[in-house]
Amino acid sequence: MTGRWLVTGAAGMLGTDLVAVLADAGHEVTAAARRDLDVTDAAAVAAAVDGHDVVINAAAYTDVDGAESDPGRAMAVNGDAVAHVAAACAAAGARLLHVSTDYVLPGDATAPYPEDAPTGPLNAYGRSKLAGERAVLAALPESGYVVRTAWLYGEHGRSFVATMLRLAAGDGAVDVVDDARGQPTWTRPLAAGLVELGEAALAGRAAGVYHATAAGAATWYELARAVFAMAGSDPARVRPTSSDRFPRPAPRPAYSVLGHGRWAAAGLAPLAPWHDMLAVALRRPGFAAVRAGAR
Ligand SMILES: NC(=O)c1ccc[n+]([C@@H]2O[C@H](COP(=O)([O-])OP(=O)(O)OC[C@H]3O[C@@H](n4cnc5c(N)ncnc54)[C@H](OP(=O)(O)O)[C@@H]3O)[C@@H](O)[C@H]2O)c1
Repeated sequence: MTGRWLVTGAAGMLGTDLVAVLADAGHEVTAAARRDLDVTDAAAVAAAVDGHDVVINAAAYTDVDGAESDPGRAMAVNGDAVAHVAAACAAAGARLLHVSTDYVLPGDATAPYPEDAPTGPLNAYGRSKLAGERAVLAALPESGYVVRTAWLYGEHGRSFVATMLRLAAGDGAVDVVDDARGQPTWTRPLAAGLVELGEAALAGRAAGVYHATAAGAATWYELARAVFAMAGSDPARVRPTSSDRFPRPAPRPAYSVLGHGRWAAAGLAPLAPWHDMLAVALRRPGFAAVRAGAR
């Protein structure tokens, strides 16, 4: 059973890769970008979801600092609209894969967070994403899949990795924070993992919270050094610094490493170690264009 799939937020960084992976796998997919479907419009969501077997909600308000000054807008898209999507899936009998974030967690752990770790977001974006998670789990206890991911980069969006590639092409020193740890994750293999989970969902795999991030962990400084080295630039140009040198409106978790126990228990293929994943990603045309200064 391949089913009919709907991707919301289809023009976003992850959404673009999701649509490509689904099409490559021969799935029937409706790609709904924001201009096609505004997820805050409950009636439009109900109409769009109808007739689909799997919905992947990749639409989100992702401006983490912007959410501090406009928490209502973040909540409308990341909380209230997710409730609309979940209700529509319940009415249509569709499975929902909802993409969430490490930012629902407090970031004060010293070992990878299990899926059932207590939540405790540090910022307005995280609180809005937690509201979305709760809406999915409440409306779809048997068919709602909350998939937390983190530290994304992709060929079709803005990311830390793309910024470092641009800086690597220049010269001089670059100061990068060394006091936050996470799992840099490329959207393309994440998309493949989400599709695998969607197929497992159609086959009746248990609903609930899953974590999907690259294996291993790195600080932003370690990630930047790896990008410089892979781009053929001197990694010694990257210097470690602390996050208090770069104050931002939204506080960030210091430790964002997610455990993959439920993913493995469901028999899903593990995502690669972050360093190997990055090496493959940087050979793709989208990142070559960034290196060449074309984007
Ligand atoms: N990026 C990361 O590092 C990261 C980390 C952890 C989790 N996540 C999660 O991963 C998912 C995908 O994020 P991403 O990195 O691909 O972000 P993205 O590139 O910003 O994609 C989000 C998409 O949602 C669209 N959108 C915003 N409001 C909408 C609305 N009301 N109706 C329909 N679409 C709407 C955006 O359109 P516009 O561009 O036109 O606003 C954008 O195309 C999100 O759930 C995010 O919370 C991301």
